[in-house]
Amino acid sequence: MFPDRVLSGMRPTGALHLGHYHGVLKNWVQLQAEYPCFFFVADWHALTTHYESPEVIGESVWEMLIDWLAAGVDPERATLFIQSRVPEHAELFLLLSMGTPLGWLERVPTYKDQIEKLKDKDLSTYGFLGYPLLQAADILIYRAGRVPVGEDQVPHVEITREIARRFNYLYGRQPDFEAQAQEAAKKLGGKRTKAYLELRRAYQEQGKAEALEEGGALVAQSQSLAAEDRELLLGYLGGSRKTILVEPQALLTAASRMPGLDGQKMSKSYGNTIRMREDKASVEKKVRTMPTDPARVRRTDAGDPARCPVWQLHQVYTDAPTREWVEKGCRSAGIGCIECKQPVIEGILREQQPMLERAQKYMDDPALLRAIVDHGCDQARQVARETMRDVRAVMGLGYR
Ligand code: TRP
Ligand code: SF4
Repeated sequence: MFPDRVLSGMRPTGALHLGHYHGVLKNWVQLQAEYPCFFFVADWHALTTHYESPEVIGESVWEMLIDWLAAGVDPERATLFIQSRVPEHAELFLLLSMGTPLGWLERVPTYKDQIEKLKDKDLSTYGFLGYPLLQAADILIYRAGRVPVGEDQVPHVEITREIARRFNYLYGRQPDFEAQAQEAAKKLGGKRTKAYLELRRAYQEQGKAEALEEGGALVAQSQSLAAEDRELLLGYLGGSRKTILVEPQALLTAASRMPGLDGQKMSKSYGNTIRMREDKASVEKKVRTMPTDPARVRRTDAGDPARCPVWQLHQVYTDAPTREWVEKGCRSAGIGCIECKQPVIEGILREQQPMLERAQKYMDDPALLRAIVDHGCDQARQVARETMRDVRAVMGLGYR
């Protein structure tokens, strides 16, 4: 219904680091310039794995929101909210759970993986099994067309599509669907009616996926149509059912292999991170104590950048002339490692500077942050309420 709307969430499980910035937040900042975006703190999701240590959630929620704003997520452009403040997510999760086959959840690749990986936690719980369904509810309740996620989350968007399809199949039936859809098509008006019907034929007779997409965009752009007519037309485009829940597309975020302090990918579980808002002294210390090419025992020993984690950070933080200086100086023992690390330190500090400035504004004025989030929750809730009204109606709960 809103093919343009972008939705994504992040679990609050600790301070964000530069890996989050390069891997996720920079992408959000770009998206907000192009699309209406909804970004939320997935606090219930955090409980699916941290139900025995819920303290981390409250400690991280506000810090994480500040990290988002520090990265340049703009509350004037994007809607920022907290999952548990929109309880409709839970209602949709419940209603979807009625018809979701257990096998679908058991077969999600992250399910068995995570149980294996997080051996210190008992994840043989109902909530953990249902986690992808909760994620489906998060997405479907906003009828969002685009969901930016990393590769590991793609199966969750896939299952969301299956759940939407099944829902529409079960509940999108309407006695005089064909006649109503034809009526609604007329309301598009003249050329658009004709284009719509042709695209529908191109999809249904020849299976042209682009036609389905183009037709969907045409319907979505027809602002004058009532929501009801739009649902009819979207459903009619692809078949004989009304579209109540929209199948989202995963927007695969290009994998950023942000290197950590030890050359492995930066990740909290490897203990090799630099926080987005790490203080200067600590950044300096962390980089100065980074391991380098083990061949450079003494200052006079030559080295090879290819065997050095610092070199990987040069790829992210320094320019071509500096890197040339490193290559020559390392191989000839012309420079020392401390010297070599200095431009990396400066690059990191330069990147962090605007983040610290943006964050300061919210640290000085916590009420401002609360107001932004209150407003975001209200906006999100309005959309969620509308979807739930339709969902309840088709599931036999529209009586009063
Ligand atoms: N599961 C996601 C993660 O662990 C977070 C998430 C929850 C999410 N709901 C979402 C992401 C909806 C995208 C859309 O990273
Ligand atoms: Fe690494 Fe630079 Fe030292 Fe070479 S000079 S080993 S690239 S830190």
